[in-house]
Amino acid sequence: MFTQNLDFKTTDLTTFPFPFTSGNYRYSNDLKKLQNINCVEITPEYELMIRAKRRLLEEQPDVRFQSFPHTQEMQWEVLEMLVDMAVSRYPQHFEVVKDGSDWTFKNNILAEQDSFVFGDSSTLELEPLDYIGRHFHNDFVLMVQRDDNYYLEVGQVSYAALFSAHWNKGMSFNEIHGPVPFVSRKGDQLADRVRQFLHSIEAGEPWTRINWNLMANRWDVNYETMDVWAPERSLITAENAGELVRLRVEEQKFYRMPRSNAILFVLNTQFLPMEDLKLRQEWFDLTYSVLQDIPEPMAEYKGIAPYLPQTVEYLRREDEKIKANQESEA
Ligand code: HEM
Repeated sequence: MFTQNLDFKTTDLTTFPFPFTSGNYRYSNDLKKLQNINCVEITPEYELMIRAKRRLLEEQPDVRFQSFPHTQEMQWEVLEMLVDMAVSRYPQHFEVVKDGSDWTFKNNILAEQDSFVFGDSSTLELEPLDYIGRHFHNDFVLMVQRDDNYYLEVGQVSYAALFSAHWNKGMSFNEIHGPVPFVSRKGDQLADRVRQFLHSIEAGEPWTRINWNLMANRWDVNYETMDVWAPERSLITAENAGELVRLRVEEQKFYRMPRSNAILFVLNTQFLPMEDLKLRQEWFDLTYSVLQDIPEPMAEYKGIAPYLPQTVEYLRREDEKIKANQESEA
């Protein structure tokens, strides 16, 4: 079993990757060049998220981390990239001493220090990506390129929407996206086009996109625990949706790894309760508009169909109150 206390939400709205730019949302190839290529980010919730992530990894180790044995060298490459990014962006929080292959990595926020021989997995208690991933609040997936496709060969996933390292291990890009009702505004089937686009990603020039979902009273749903969370969705009402339904946003980053040629997929997942949308009127208005206009296959696929009407009703009632206030002030 695993715990899902809602022990954090995004508090610094300036870093919340609000997903909507217009009042209706459809799937599209919405990848953009990433501006700040360093994916290490310390948010006010860093320690809470790390604690929750490590707890989940301990409670469901096989669900949350998976790898193939031949990926050790690729994992060391990821470890090196993340260590270097952490130290260059936050030298006060992270330090590394490299004496040839003898490395010592220090995390000053968590007061932790580890020494290991770079490239020798027997000197770490965990696999390299599983070890280094526990220092950052992100999820990490390594997609290895073979032939014309990408295959999920390593994953550390703790904040998932219908996704797990265990469920998706070994799947190709197309297999992973098989369940997505991937029809764009123009009616195109997108999966092949997006996969072709991934081929053009070059080392040192990562890309980014934003994905979103709603979560009913939890931050994470995967197929392995569907028996637990699926029935709980019916507990959402227009009265409690403001507190219990959260806008869950994934800032996704895609890096071409120069040595292995794999694509590292990094996810920064943030959560904002519906009631906090009122802190930014524009966010409230866009979300209310988008949620009223979700095509049914998208709502079914995202797993939000059972509580979407209650959530929209909550937003409608709040909208009425906001408008009544504005009128009485005018
Ligand atoms: C290469 C790394 C990628 C990985 C590992 C990945 C993984 C996933 C997974 C596991 C899902 C959930 C599938 C399920 O329901 O079983 C998903 C959904 C989706 N993916 Fe990807 N993806 C990747 C890249 C992309 C890119 C580049 C796009 C660009 C358009 C994209 C667009 C989507 C969309 C639109 C969904 C549906 C999400 C929703 O509506 O909530 N993915 N992806």
